Amino acid sequence: MPNELSKAEVKLNKVELDKILEKYEREAGGLIPILQEVQKIYGYLPEEALILVSEEMDIPLSKIYGVVTFYTQFSLTPRGRNVVRLCRGTACHVRGARLVLRSVEQALRIKEGETTDDFKFSLETVACLGACAMGPVMVVNLTYFGKMSPRKVESVLRQYD
Ligand code: FES
Repeated sequence: MPNELSKAEVKLNKVELDKILEKYEREAGGLIPILQEVQKIYGYLPEEALILVSEEMDIPLSKIYGVVTFYTQFSLTPRGRNVVRLCRGTACHVRGARLVLRSVEQALRIKEGETTDDFKFSLETVACLGACAMGPVMVVNLTYFGKMSPRKVESVLRQYD
């Protein structure tokens, strides 16, 4: 499992973490970009890394968890190389988003909130992707796919390694 780092490995990366903290000069306002960069290293935010950030920046760990759980871009568990997000907002829902979700779940053999065993895909749902007129909307990483239907799912997923 490439994204699952042991505690020792997280400690080994303290040098890298220090570089990130230096870049943002340990300023409280730098917390989000710091967390983004930490997530880029590990693919998610391991607890050990958050403890280090908390200690180094003198920010309570509870506050850091508050930020991490507020923003959907952050993950506390290992995620796949590609993140599939499906909209469950009203506009998409009435146009059949549920059926698209079922189709993705079947194609990837995982449920919403899960990651495939090969870490190729993670599947998430979000309240609204801000493109309601294109519903049902699915986003893979940063690419939007509008007017999705169950039969389009396979051809979209096939584009990703
Ligand atoms: S409701 Fe789906 S994009 Fe807004």
